[in-house]
Amino acid sequence: MTYKKLKAAEVAEKIDAELFGNGETIISDVTHDSRQAREETLFVAVRGLTIDGHRFIKDVMRRNAAGVISELKPPEDFQGVWLKVGDARKALAKAADIIHGQPSKDLKLVGITGTNGKTTTTYLILALAEANGEKPAMLTTVEYRIGDESQPAVRTTPEASDTQRFLREAVEKDCDVAVMETSSQAIDLRRCDWLKFKVAVFANLTRDHLDYHHTMENYFDAKKELFDGRLGEVPDSAVINIDDKWGIKLADELKANGQKILTFSQNNPADLTAENIEVSLITGTSFLLKTPIGERQITSPLVGKPHVYNMLSATAAALELGYDLDKIQAGLKTCIGAPGRFERVEHDGDFAVVIDYAHSDDALLNILKTARDLTNGRIITVFGCGGDRDKTKRKPMGEVAGNHSDLVIITSDNPRTEDPLKIIGEIEIGIKETDCPYLVNSDRREAIHRAISKAKANDVVIIAGKGHETYQIIGSDKFHFDDREIAKEALENLKN
Ligand SMILES: Nc1ncnc2c1ncn2[C@@H]1O[C@H](COP(=O)(O)OP(=O)(O)OP(=O)(O)O)[C@@H](O)[C@H]1O
Ligand SMILES: [Mg+2]
Repeated sequence: MTYKKLKAAEVAEKIDAELFGNGETIISDVTHDSRQAREETLFVAVRGLTIDGHRFIKDVMRRNAAGVISELKPPEDFQGVWLKVGDARKALAKAADIIHGQPSKDLKLVGITGTNGKTTTTYLILALAEANGEKPAMLTTVEYRIGDESQPAVRTTPEASDTQRFLREAVEKDCDVAVMETSSQAIDLRRCDWLKFKVAVFANLTRDHLDYHHTMENYFDAKKELFDGRLGEVPDSAVINIDDKWGIKLADELKANGQKILTFSQNNPADLTAENIEVSLITGTSFLLKTPIGERQITSPLVGKPHVYNMLSATAAALELGYDLDKIQAGLKTCIGAPGRFERVEHDGDFAVVIDYAHSDDALLNILKTARDLTNGRIITVFGCGGDRDKTKRKPMGEVAGNHSDLVIITSDNPRTEDPLKIIGEIEIGIKETDCPYLVNSDRREAIHRAISKAKANDVVIIAGKGHETYQIIGSDKFHFDDREIAKEALENLKN
């Protein structure tokens, strides 16, 4: 273990800072969040887009923090250590890396970047690690996990100090591998500096997040930093989608640099390919996987060709991690990807049940269209809208559900302190503008049972709104409620 507490003077030297105050001060943590500040902590005052971290300096010193890292000079009366740096964000990342003893070098770190599929791919790699008997840690949009311990995510890619602290904890808890989503914005904000990636994955690049990056070239360039050493370290290998034109560009540039790359494709010759792809809402997806070390027939509960890309990239990463192809095949067979995102409930029947967290008209439209493309049966949709939350989406969600379903059952989704029937009434206004038949049942459990009891061959029952959530809030009480459990219960009932 390389981890040892540092002195302020050592930190200052490593991050190239001008030191004010006592260089002997012991430092064991660094943070951007004033609420995390305590003894032996350096607080980095970042001047953000809306908030200037310098506002919190008095507060962190009251919390007995050791001192501050800042681009400014210390105020005259400042007590504590002060490290003046050129760029606070870069200093945060570098300080976090050294203070936590460079944990990314003590495990196998995988980073995934791309416009779509990061979360799914992260879950897939987690499953492949487990199938290979390794203990994984994971940072995703949905949750942060170390082995079986999970906490809800705060953001897709945490600040460097949180990531480095998390990785240190993962190392201490004997994780072999850590998988993280690395968003382009996080890369740009220096949150991933100094992370040593064993494998970096490029999933795809499509128009999105241009509000932040402005042009596709900038967006690509931010992603490319994960691969080309600008974060401070070059990944051991890069896994790249060459069905994406930006992926081809990246592969060419890295190859010219002499870097190790592994390509994947559904349409072109590549190191990993998928042939004979078959997609069914009822049975999932199957394809012939070809890799440099052999072929396997893959079956997966995930539905859709985009997920074949995710399985190809996860497999490529798994091969770089040294995993066994038979165990990869077994891991893919059971992994549902990101929980609650177009999650099929497995059963023996001839119709499909899908759980999705769609809780806006846009998201609902998306999943209903996906389902429509995949079946010639009916679409039966169960959904509701949250209480004490955005009321303007109720009517549009009713309209979308009506326009894209063959039967809708309107129900409750965390009514909170509002009257469930009043919320349902507002959804009905939208659905009445369509020709779709609908039923109302404010009891979500009964609504799900009813929907499933009505399903016939090739139908799809979409249960939208909650996804992976495991509760329902009625009034101010929070009850355990899991759409997946209720769906399974209803499917069991059908057998009796
Ligand atoms: N490889 C892919 N290509 C295109 N679309 C995909 C791919 N994988 C998943 N999707 C679709 O993109 C959406 C987001 O998937 P996922 O959550 O895995 O991606 P993400 O990159 O983590 O997104 P976010 O930036 O929202 O965290 C899903 O609706 C999914 O159906
Ligand atoms: Mg994500």
